[in-house]
Amino acid sequence: MKLLVTGGAGFIGSNFVLHMLRTYPELDLVNVDKLTYAGNLENLKSLEGDKRHRFIKLDIGDSAAIERLVGAELPDAVVNFAAESHVDRSIEGPEVFLRTNVLGTLSLLEACRKAGTPVFLQIGTDEVYGSLGEAGSFTEQSPLQPNSPYAASKAGADHLVRAYGKTYGMDVRITRCSNNYGPFQFPEKLIPLMLTNALEGRPLPVYGDGLNVRDWIFVTDHCRALDLVLQKGKPGEIYNIGGVAEKTNLEVVKTILAAVEADQSLIRFVEDRPGHDRRYAIDSSRLRGELGWVPEVDFGQGIALTVRWYREHESWWRRIKSGEYRQYYEKMYGKRL
Ligand code: NAD
Ligand code: DAU
Repeated sequence: MKLLVTGGAGFIGSNFVLHMLRTYPELDLVNVDKLTYAGNLENLKSLEGDKRHRFIKLDIGDSAAIERLVGAELPDAVVNFAAESHVDRSIEGPEVFLRTNVLGTLSLLEACRKAGTPVFLQIGTDEVYGSLGEAGSFTEQSPLQPNSPYAASKAGADHLVRAYGKTYGMDVRITRCSNNYGPFQFPEKLIPLMLTNALEGRPLPVYGDGLNVRDWIFVTDHCRALDLVLQKGKPGEIYNIGGVAEKTNLEVVKTILAAVEADQSLIRFVEDRPGHDRRYAIDSSRLRGELGWVPEVDFGQGIALTVRWYREHESWWRRIKSGEYRQYYEKMYGKRL
């Protein structure tokens, strides 16, 4: 089997690439990534010399190059992780989110349509459903009510993917997952930011009252779900993926502080995120019932594994948070990290 993965140098993409090559010894995997600030080839260092993995630096929005690549490689499936993924950045500058997340997905869909790619798997997010009140959870039938430019761009991509299934009869599948955490997550997202700040003795900025709720999933459980959707999923279907670990942000932050034996006085309540979604919760009964998925790592185990990984890979995150990376980042993006 030949897979073409996009965004495979990012957090979830690199975990997925490693999972697939570990699980399928015969796999041929082409990994396409633009290497934005979030893409990091260090995540794939363990694959050096592995001929089953080929890395290609490319923007998914470069439609001519993408069409040539998909036409030449003729993969059995394309798995699209490539995206701008951080909500706060989308509030500061939405344009690149539309370019990559919507037009980039369109460029991939067109290339797959022309090449007759057998399966297109779109990695979506629960944020497209908007925000929940105190009770209930998102099902695949919940209306799309995105509240941030990031979520709106991902909803736009989902609509395009669905439309290519209906209009051109392509086998397209969409997954919508809740908040991931684990190794290789860029330290701008809640858990790695708080964890590395706590390890450095720096303040932990909690937005608003800290009572917003997210449903946390350890990244390898997400990767196993995606593998199942690729192997056994149905054309045109949407699969919600969630960890059944609803926590307030304050609970998450306090768990991290306790795990690294840092003082709770590091917590700082700061101005809230505009349009901040109050609560996410995912109903993944379709994935469990139809494809037999069960998460293997509970929140306590996942946090312990994550803390251990960040402690053991200090050079990975220190380089990102260091002056060297800041200089590169500020030059590229004209904005402070
Ligand atoms: P990430 O920001 O860590 O990685 C994104 C990767 O995409 C990076 O390697 C980056 O270089 C690459 N990329 C960005 N623009 C590109 C372009 N134009 N062309 C090619 N490559 C490009 O993101 P992540 O957290 O790993 O998320 C991966 C996917 O999963 C995204 O589609 C995101 O919407 C989705 N998702 C994330 C979460 C989560 O909790 N992190 C949850 C559900 C869904
Ligand atoms: O639900 C899936 C989504 O989860 C993915 O689609 C996104 O790509 C991913 O970034 C994530 O979005 P969130 O906005 O939920 O994640 P983030 O880590 O940015 O924030 C999690 C919660 O923590 C949110 O309520 C905002 C809060 N927060 C975040 C940061 C960075 C803080 O209180 N302080 C912070 O400094």
